[in-house]
Amino acid sequence: MDFEIVNGPVEALETDCIVVGVEAEGKLAPSAAALDKATSGYLSELVESGDITGKAGELLTLFKLPGLKARRVMVVGLGKADERKDRHYRKLAAAITSSVKKAGIASTAIALDGLASDQEDTYRQTRQLVEWITAELYQYDATKSKKADPIKLEKVAFLLSEEDTELGEGALLDGVAIANGVDSAREVANLPGNICTPSYLAERAIALAETHDSIQVEILDEAQMEELGMGALLSVGRGSAEPSKLIVMRYTGTDAEEKPHALVGKGITFDTGGISLKPGAAMDEMKYDMGGAASVLGAMEAVAEMHLSLNLVGVIAAAENMPGSKATKPGDIVTTMSGQTVEILNTDAEGRLVLCDALTYVGRYEPQSVIDIATLTGACIIALGHEATGLLSNDDDLAESLLDAGDYAADRAWQLPLWDDYQEQLDSNFADMANIGGRPAGTITAACFLSRFTKEYRWAHLDIAGVAWNSGKAKGATGRCVPLLSQYLLDLSEQKDLAED
Ligand code: BES
Ligand code: MN
Ligand code: ZN
Repeated sequence: MDFEIVNGPVEALETDCIVVGVEAEGKLAPSAAALDKATSGYLSELVESGDITGKAGELLTLFKLPGLKARRVMVVGLGKADERKDRHYRKLAAAITSSVKKAGIASTAIALDGLASDQEDTYRQTRQLVEWITAELYQYDATKSKKADPIKLEKVAFLLSEEDTELGEGALLDGVAIANGVDSAREVANLPGNICTPSYLAERAIALAETHDSIQVEILDEAQMEELGMGALLSVGRGSAEPSKLIVMRYTGTDAEEKPHALVGKGITFDTGGISLKPGAAMDEMKYDMGGAASVLGAMEAVAEMHLSLNLVGVIAAAENMPGSKATKPGDIVTTMSGQTVEILNTDAEGRLVLCDALTYVGRYEPQSVIDIATLTGACIIALGHEATGLLSNDDDLAESLLDAGDYAADRAWQLPLWDDYQEQLDSNFADMANIGGRPAGTITAACFLSRFTKEYRWAHLDIAGVAWNSGKAKGATGRCVPLLSQYLLDLSEQKDLAED
């Protein structure tokens, strides 16, 4: 799919379809008004007759209007001013896309004149459209014998004023990079556990490094992890025939001397719970327990495509959590790479076990910041539902940067407290800590556990248990938090560029 910016009078656009907006009470947006004028009042007549109301979500396609080059005009309802939040805008983008897709046309132009969103930020609006149109066109067929019909839509053009064109071009570049990252994250997360194993994740990382000269990859096997003393990470894969992997990707976008930022993803390619076996209902969804790893892969890809001027380390702690005769048992005690010991009271609290050793490992890069991303706790779904990512951090500035990035990228997070008061829930009579802290505040105690391994650097934890995938009929991976992470890194890269200018 090609995205492009076009200028010029809307009535002269040659395209299969031109999309224009109408506000509530039938008030034509500027491009709609221009079309109205060019067609001697065609649209205002339909407003008059009540066929166009401008209600949010209204979609009307008109054919072959006299005086226009475009073959179709799609009039979309923008609704009232308070109906232009991100969620409305996203719905609108989805509705336009599915309508255009259904019509089977090859090209469309969109002229929403900035009114469709409540934010007067042309870059942001254009980028969002790119991301959301791409997401709407995503179709999974990797494991179907009948492949999805190819998408006929080849070109989407955004009509912008000449002065906004440069901004728009930048939005297309960033939008496509982020959209590709989201697509890749969804694709790898949607694959079943018998295909997407820790070794498969390693292959994906190798493939990414092959397509981007700026990315290098190193895969650590179990023997190497043993050598490093990663007793916690290794304990998780003990019951599985699939070997665990530590996947280390390095993106170099600036002076090699500059300290990197780091992303660390939970890559449990299937979480049965281990000996603390999960109940059967919806256990299939635990193939998504590598959603954090998927978002690290997706964000690395987006960062490389945007050529951000920073250095970045992406680490994936990959293992399969299975019961078996060699599996870790409740009560077993392991020694982490940090030297701290852990009493594993519940083998289903495995994410923190793989992450803690990966977090110790990234310390060697003296990172400027470390973000881990994990489908870590069911408790996060209880706390925040399926809207917000849970955010916990040992650094308030870092937390704020991530919250802001999430807001801007429409991939929002919400902070929970990481107070020391919660730490004692992890007390153990037999080891330095237990791997569970009881039912209260499960998301916080999980982060408390991780915080014991991240004292040396600025760190934040993103719990994506509630947002990484949709259940039910729309079952599928979402690609969250690729937009948030990409935005955070984009902001860092831009701040640096500004400081250097
Ligand atoms: N991967 C799960 C968390 C999860 C569960 C994410 C359901 C999304 C949906 C994680 O490994 C887990 O099992 N966590 C336990 C922790 C508990 C044993 C302290 C949980 O949340 O129940
Ligand atoms: Mn688990
Ligand atoms: Zn898990």
